[in-house]
Amino acid sequence: MKKFLSLTLASIMVLGLVACGQKAAAPASDGAAPTKLVMCTNAEFPPYEFKDGGEFKGIDVECAKLIGEKLGVEVEILDIAFDSLIPTVMSGKADFAMAGMTVTEDRKESVDFSHTYQTAVQTIVVPVDSAIQGVEDMYGKKIGVQTGTTGDIYCSDDFGDESMERYSKIIDGFQAMKSGKIDAIVVDDQVAKAIVEQDSSSFKILETAYAEEDYAIAVKKGNKDLLDKINTAIDEMKSNGQLKAIVDKYIK
Ligand code: ARG
Repeated sequence: MKKFLSLTLASIMVLGLVACGQKAAAPASDGAAPTKLVMCTNAEFPPYEFKDGGEFKGIDVECAKLIGEKLGVEVEILDIAFDSLIPTVMSGKADFAMAGMTVTEDRKESVDFSHTYQTAVQTIVVPVDSAIQGVEDMYGKKIGVQTGTTGDIYCSDDFGDESMERYSKIIDGFQAMKSGKIDAIVVDDQVAKAIVEQDSSSFKILETAYAEEDYAIAVKKGNKDLLDKINTAIDEMKSNGQLKAIVDKYIK
């Protein structure tokens, strides 16, 4: 199997997710604890983040809300392009990015990652009647990915730029594959499942998969205070079953 690397990489809709817990008591002044954290995400990625009737839903959305509760702050969602997430965290326009984001060595040069909270696998989706059976059949084919995702990075590396069709929303890639414009899509396993489930007469997921990945939250480099708090919250959610309960709601 070919190596699979990693990396990273807008419409703005903002929704306040008011934490049910207590609000931070400190008044907003220098050095005071913030009462609100801005999370950037790309809500085109069910079951991790998606919009349902104008409302943000998904595993990451619920986890972020719970982290906010634990920290006593409100979490506001900034929905932007996937490849804008890291720049937005770097610039400080968002406090953290949570978007089914894979931890990679390249991304670690730009942001700091929390403890991981999920694992994922890049999978290959093809039309039901496709002759493609695995990676070796993908050379010279048109491959769809979401711009800036690990699927994009790995496939660009393995098959060359000329094979790539990049979409800002992976669902548009599935539409293109349905109309015969592309031959395969490489995307995270749970997202593949969620989309293929809706249209199993058109698409199938291949058994062959690329390397396993870890998802984590990204914060601005050096923001140790926030990172420590997020890590404590994640550790707690992992050990007390809260994380599993959220995941189980969305992944059967
Ligand atoms: N795990 C992949 C990555 O980090 C894809 C994430 C896409 N997430 C999203 N919300 N669109 O590159």
